[in-house]
Formats: sequence, C-alpha cells, structure tokens
Amino acid sequence: MQHLMSPLDLSVEELDKLLTLANDIEQNPQKYAHACEGKKLATCFYEPSTRTRLSFEAAMLNLGGSVLGFSSADSSSASKGESVSDTIRVISCYADICAMRHFKEGAPLVASQKSSIPVINAGDGGHQHPTQTLTDLLTIRSLKGRLDNLTIGLCGDLKFGRTVHSLIHALIRYPHMKFILISPEELRVPSYIREDLLEKNNIAFREVERLEDAMGDLDILYMTRVQRERFFNEDDYVRMKDFYILNRKKMALAKEDMIVMHPLPRVNEISVEVDDDPRAAYFKQAQYGVYVRMALILTLLEVEVC
Ligand code: CP
Repeated sequence: MQHLMSPLDLSVEELDKLLTLANDIEQNPQKYAHACEGKKLATCFYEPSTRTRLSFEAAMLNLGGSVLGFSSADSSSASKGESVSDTIRVISCYADICAMRHFKEGAPLVASQKSSIPVINAGDGGHQHPTQTLTDLLTIRSLKGRLDNLTIGLCGDLKFGRTVHSLIHALIRYPHMKFILISPEELRVPSYIREDLLEKNNIAFREVERLEDAMGDLDILYMTRVQRERFFNEDDYVRMKDFYILNRKKMALAKEDMIVMHPLPRVNEISVEVDDDPRAAYFKQAQYGVYVRMALILTLLEVEVC
C-alpha cells in the first residue's frame, strides 16, 4: 500500500506516468466516470481549505466514487482530544482512501503509520503540500510543454509557504531548472532549502528582493500569499502582506509567453487587472488540480482503466 507524504515519494518516472494519466483524464473524462464505483474517499481537514478539499471531493465524484469527511478540527472528535492515530484507525473502517490536512507538520505521516488505507498529505503546517505540487507540475508541463530548461521565479512568502518548499523539492530533479527566489529578507526560504537542497545539488539560483529585477528573465512566475496563519505577530504580518503586488505595469516587463501561477487563495498579491492577461494561469491551475487528484486516487487505489 502506497501513501503520499511528499512529492519525492514518487520517482520522476512515476510522476511522468501520473501526469500523463491526468492529461488522459482531461481529454477523456467519460472513460473514467465509473472507475471508482463503490469506493469512498475520506477528507479529514483539520485546517481550512477550499481548493484542496473540494477538488479531492470533485475528483472522487468524477470517478464515480463517494466522499465523506470533516472540514475543521472543531467539527471532529479532535476537539474532544482524539489523536490523529486513533482517528485514522477509525476512518480506515469507513473509507478506502483518505486525504488529510493538518496544522501540525508530520501529522499525516503519523496517520499513515497507523492506517490500513492509503493516506494523502493534503498540507501539513508550513512543511509540504504534495498534491499542490502535482497540480503545479501538471500545469507547467501542460502549458509550457516541458519540466526542464525553465527559469521559475518564486515570489512572496518563501519562508512559510509550503507549496514553494514542495515545488522546489520536485523541480530540482529535472535538468537545467533555474530558480529566482523573490522575497523580503524576513521571508526568505529556510536555510535547509537554500543550503541543503539548492547549494548542495549545485542548482542555479539567485535571491532578489524586487520583483522588477526578475520579471524579464522568467518563464514562470509563481506568486504566493503571505501566510497570515503562520505569523506569531499580527504587526509583522501587516508590514509584510502587501510587499508584492503584481499588476499590469509589472506584467509589461515579462516575456510574452511567461505564465503566472498561484496556488490560491490570493489576497492582494495579484491585482485583479492581471486576471484577463492570457499569461494568467492560476484559475487553469485550479482546474488541473482536479485531473491530477483523479489520477492520484486511481494510482493509490491501484485501479486500472483500459
Ligand atoms: N491551494 C490550496 O491549498 O488552497 P486551499 O487552502 O483552498 O486548499
């Protein structure tokens, strides 16, 4: 039985197969409409979510399966003190597969160790968000045609943004990827990413503070919001929250075929005036999230569709 805790749980070959399956699902949705009939997905979300939970649920419903679950710790027995380990042992009696989001880093991993069904990490604290990474890889491969030889700018809260951490882990496995890390000093990527991942693996990267200093070099701009829920101090959040605002003027500095991605939700970091720009890919990205989660459910449940 396979779980998904990190994008690195899948080899590059396995990822390639998964993304190809996701593209086939996009092209031929009817072929997969009954693939999971009789199967149930549990969504155990201890932290708020719109896209991840609902796209998982849409994915299972699109496959002909059913969904059950909870959308906050308060509406589950976690509020009475139940441990994640006990919860997953019980959920294993009710469902065939579980997607879990938790505010504590490592909680889905703990669950996977006690589970008799596949567990998918749907985001754990500031740590990892592997299914967002699968979504991002599918978006990049579908819109840019490749996952190598690209310059990607990661902009905003690179300290707490788990989507950024997961994406860097995944992308350094492809050849000739260059990273421009765009953040204020206080929100730089953690040193374990800079030193242990980028420097040790001789990955080309540079850090800048101004978005304008990177725009012209980018094939992909990956914007992130400042993660209010991870700040200890509201004043620091208020000072940082509008540090970057992507608008038409800044988009004019970018290549004509650059794409703008964002895991969403956005707050102010992308002005709505950018939404009509053909390079704005963030709503398409959310759609790709359904196809890739369908492919992941099929893969972990070992369902073959001919
Ligand atoms: N991108 C993402 O994880 O969004 P949600 O928090 O709405 O699930």
